Amino acid sequence: MNILLIGSGGREDALCWRLSQSPSCEKLIAAPGNPGMERWADELRPIAAEDPAAVVAMAQDIAADLVVIGPEAPLVAGVADALDAAGIPCFGPSGAAAQLEGSKGFTKDLCAKYDIPTAAYVRTELMDEALAALDDFSIPVVVKADGLAAGKGVTVAMSREEAEAAIRAAGDGPLVIEEFLGGEEASLFALVDGRQCRFLASAQDHKRVGEGDTGPNTGGMGAYSPAPVLDDTLAARAMMDIVQRTADAMVDEGTPFRGVLYAGLMLTETGPKLIEYNVRFGDPECEAIMPRIAGDFAEMLLAVASGDLAGMGEVVLETATTMTVIIAADGYPGTPRKGGAISGIEAAEEDGAIVFQAGTAKDGDRLVSSGGRVLAVTAAGETLQQARDAAYEAVAKIDFADGFHRSDIGWRELQRQS
Ligand code: AMP
Ligand code: GLY
Repeated sequence: MNILLIGSGGREDALCWRLSQSPSCEKLIAAPGNPGMERWADELRPIAAEDPAAVVAMAQDIAADLVVIGPEAPLVAGVADALDAAGIPCFGPSGAAAQLEGSKGFTKDLCAKYDIPTAAYVRTELMDEALAALDDFSIPVVVKADGLAAGKGVTVAMSREEAEAAIRAAGDGPLVIEEFLGGEEASLFALVDGRQCRFLASAQDHKRVGEGDTGPNTGGMGAYSPAPVLDDTLAARAMMDIVQRTADAMVDEGTPFRGVLYAGLMLTETGPKLIEYNVRFGDPECEAIMPRIAGDFAEMLLAVASGDLAGMGEVVLETATTMTVIIAADGYPGTPRKGGAISGIEAAEEDGAIVFQAGTAKDGDRLVSSGGRVLAVTAAGETLQQARDAAYEAVAKIDFADGFHRSDIGWRELQRQS
């Protein structure tokens, strides 16, 4: 089949790499892509990825049998709807179904209506109502601005004063006030084709920029897969009580979900509860997960896109554990320094690691940085410790003077295992 892959980050580089290995993939076009994806795609093409008409036109131009959309913005913009209308199979949900990520209020209301386990909440658009609602919650309490905030609209307030300050800072506008859930966090990734759901993998990422999970939030500084805290029993329970119920609910609401559902879970004493949904792969979780998937990945995504998951078996995972370490540009998550020279990728890959690229660009023959998160160095191992050692050995071979990385990815889990 001919595949059009939309996106340009480390996540899409990993998807591109994995799709290029699928026996059923004949032609792979990445748009707009990045220099890393040049290694696996047949061609890169520039595109306005959030313009539905532009994506449809390109898909028609290459006679795409499948369009795979990496990031959330094109999904929220309705790119999948336009592809649907044009009769082109798309891996990624409609704009209406993408509200599972785009609107926290939408998701909370869906959970309430269909008995999907999540934190108790109040949803309001008025600052005064939000302030008054604090009476109904104990401390800590969580304040969330609605809409796509890339994880930056959330305050876990350790005092009433902090909660009030967060509400006042947000002002009038869509807000969710939520019960604080204690426990371990884990992410679950599931393929959903409407009603059919398949567990894909678990993972855990590190969102804070600093060692020991300190400092400002980022898109993610590293990840590993699987997340052992989400054992088989808990994963099966989360699939049944959370993912399947959500898939059924979306069908019943007339907005079926199609694509990968990324559930951020809190493993509480009373079972897994939903913290949030994303409607796409995580980045860098995707870089960690892709090397674990066995079989024809393109076939799998086409089955999701065409509502055909029932005909597919369970997703087979390699037993290996993987770890991804992000190398970011100095300044990230603020203003990253751009144009720094990068070398050593070949050396880093000598022992089996893969260096996925995110914010990179070509400057003549040189590879330079062009964004916040620059490289996603990924390695596998029989154990998390082995995967970690291999990933950091590879990181050490990369020469990128303007970059930095965290040296403690996986620390909590490694500590638990030791
Ligand atoms: P979100 O953007 O909703 O994923 O929230 C970002 C982070 O805030 C999560 O990864 C959690 O660490 C934390 N968080 C969000 N909601 C809750 C909650 N109800 N209880 C405890 N922690 C939460
Ligand atoms: N790594 C977190 C995310 O992709 O949202």
